[in-house]
Amino acid sequence: MIILVLQTTGIMMVMGGVLAALLVIAERYLADYGECNIDINGKRQEKVKGGSSLLSSLNSRNIYLASACGGRGSCGFCKCKVIEGGGPLLPTEKPFLSPEEISENIRLSCQVKIKKDIKIELPEAIFNIRKFKAKVSSIRDYTHDIKELTLDLKDSSTINFKAGQYIQLHSARYGKVKQSVSRAYSISSNQSSTDLVQVIIRLVPKGICTTWVHEYLKEGDDVEFTGPYGDFYIRDTDKDIIFIAGGSGMAPIKSMLEWLLEINSPRKIFYFFGARCKEDLYLTEYLYEFENKLADFEYHPVLSQPGEEDKWQGKTGYITPYLKDVIRDSKNTEAYLCGSPGMINSVSKGLKEYGISESDIFYDSF
Ligand SMILES: Cc1cc2nc3c(=O)[nH]c(=O)nc-3n(C[C@H](O)[C@H](O)[C@H](O)COP(=O)(O)OP(=O)(O)OC[C@H]3O[C@@H](n4cnc5c(N)ncnc54)[C@H](O)[C@@H]3O)c2cc1C
Ligand code: FES
Repeated sequence: MIILVLQTTGIMMVMGGVLAALLVIAERYLADYGECNIDINGKRQEKVKGGSSLLSSLNSRNIYLASACGGRGSCGFCKCKVIEGGGPLLPTEKPFLSPEEISENIRLSCQVKIKKDIKIELPEAIFNIRKFKAKVSSIRDYTHDIKELTLDLKDSSTINFKAGQYIQLHSARYGKVKQSVSRAYSISSNQSSTDLVQVIIRLVPKGICTTWVHEYLKEGDDVEFTGPYGDFYIRDTDKDIIFIAGGSGMAPIKSMLEWLLEINSPRKIFYFFGARCKEDLYLTEYLYEFENKLADFEYHPVLSQPGEEDKWQGKTGYITPYLKDVIRDSKNTEAYLCGSPGMINSVSKGLKEYGISESDIFYDSF
């Protein structure tokens, strides 16, 4: 009897699975939604073939929303206000949306499939985001797993960005990897150099894009990217600044420092860079030089686990306890953080305990 019940349940499950698969295949290959209209801000109309995601349909019209995961529904970056025609909110979107965003009809554009005419709202800044072709003019090794790429823009193009923003680099197919992916990388060069961008990329073991960059990409190769994206940039105030970064989180901070130097910023600035040991430090001399060039700047590398061979005399352990000593007036201090989510969480918590307001803490975590 039990065997019969198990057999029947098994057959039902297999049939259910087959039916679901058939529905997906039918939806993908047989459903014809015809031509649909995307109404953008009530001002611009884009005709697209129905059946694709809102994100990729906009891409096909040279409108590039942020999408750090390349449309996999795992980054939550591709938010967009859908006024009409977006269909019901999907379970895949909910984890990335706050109750306020849901009530304002914010959706993940990679999860919204275009099946009929749709009305959306986009901030004007989105229209500044473009696709660029570039040549890799140099690849520089910084540590055993961090490289800086210099990408010279082709076709006399120029890019206007704010120090701290990022691009999305499109990888090429290589080895057994048959897919091209798009990944976010903060710009490490100065915003006044508009004919190139530099990025600092740390190798993620088995990572699709970083393996391509570290093991396959060569000087002279052509690449494509879109940008600029993001709201991690220096606010135009006279408050003291504390920069905190780790690993490749150096990239946007380097760009910000170069910009602050160029505008002769009189602001009081501290930079704490966290690394495990001495071999993970880079650009050290370059950053100490800013102490002589900027009006009021201190660089503090902090090692969490220096080895005996490092003969390290500097700061050790966690960064957070050192921050207390450099905050002159917590109401007049901004913090810019870039590094792993764990580092961002623990440093933000400490900064708030030292009296820095949440609205004065800015970060990009990756
Ligand atoms: C706004 C923003 C700015 C960024 N700027 C930079 C930058 O300047 N420099 C830089 O090196 N990276 C940066 N990143 C991270 C970058 O976009 C990629 O996520 C990262 O390079 C991994 O891509 P991949 O294709 O090699 O790995 P994937 O193929 O996407 O991932 C492979 C595996 O590694 C895991 N993984 C993914 N990312 C990490 C990670 N960072 N650490 C550990 N495991 C990971 C995944 O969960 C997966 O299991 C940024 C991310 C964001 C969102
Ligand atoms: S592109 Fe990452 S969630 Fe949509």
